[in-house]
Amino acid sequence: MRTVTLSLNGAKLQVEEDRPLIQAAREHEVYIPGLCFHPDLPAAEECGLCLVEVEGESDLVHACKTSTRQGLSVRTESDRIRAARQAKLAEILTHHPHACLTCAQQEGCSREPCSTNVPVAERCCPKLGHCEVQKVAAFIGIPPETKKWVPTSHPKFEAEPLLRRDYNLCIGCTRCVRACEDLRRIGALTTREIEPGVTIAWAKEETLVDSGCKFCGACVEVCPTGALMDRDLPPGRHALFTHGGVVRLLAREVGEDRFVPTGTLVVVDWDSRRLLSVREGEGTPRDEKGALAEERSA
Ligand code: SF4
Ligand code: SF4
Ligand code: SF4
Ligand code: FES
Repeated sequence: MRTVTLSLNGAKLQVEEDRPLIQAAREHEVYIPGLCFHPDLPAAEECGLCLVEVEGESDLVHACKTSTRQGLSVRTESDRIRAARQAKLAEILTHHPHACLTCAQQEGCSREPCSTNVPVAERCCPKLGHCEVQKVAAFIGIPPETKKWVPTSHPKFEAEPLLRRDYNLCIGCTRCVRACEDLRRIGALTTREIEPGVTIAWAKEETLVDSGCKFCGACVEVCPTGALMDRDLPPGRHALFTHGGVVRLLAREVGEDRFVPTGTLVVVDWDSRRLLSVREGEGTPRDEKGALAEERSA
């Protein structure tokens, strides 16, 4: 790959040619916000937050869709950029809970009880504290004209294997759809317009199993909100056929760092967070109806 020289906020940088500007800037410690961009996924230009000024262009451009090239001259901060990003952020937050993000007590808050009496339905989700929306909102600044979020009643799926879906928290960034389609080549997810101009992610069918989901966890990994999260297991001893999601779950919760191929039978003691046994080649993770049989009593 050819190296090119570009100017970023007045500093000359040597970067690889033809890389997403947002990523090249971040690698040089210039943060450009963006919620739909992910380094492992093709760009989608959904969120509109990565706006920057490029010399020679009259309009602001999206840094996620701009490729690095010789002589590119970019500014990532100005009053015009801030105003445009804030307008986009206000649109996103109109359709996403954000009361906690404007709260002076948000640092380290457990959300329960709420010292400022925000109704439960308007509080942030358990991702508060390690949420990308929160990080991006703190960087850009939530503008005072942002509309209050009105709680929605989109479906929530709490009992599916390995992951939880809550469409009320989806910002429609489509990272999950692209992860499923472009990384995993599965295509279990799609988008749906829930009101004019507002689109969120949705499974292709009612359940993920029916949608052809392999429970690899790639969509959870890239989701910037609490809309897709790993499901915790109830207390007890569990036998699990592994998928990507379980491997990640085990690594995080059990503290084991080992490769466990898909389809392996793993027995865990969830109370003590211990791996009891790992047996490879135990069969396929499907029951007689073709549904994913990820949990059985050990
Ligand atoms: S994802 Fe959760 S923590 Fe983040 S802004 Fe949304 S509701 Fe709040
Ligand atoms: S867990 Fe399912 S929906 Fe998510 S990326 Fe994997 S196959 Fe697609
Ligand atoms: S579920 Fe998550 S990753 Fe998918 S579109 Fe919604 S916010 Fe984005
Ligand atoms: S990161 Fe560029 S439009 Fe979302």
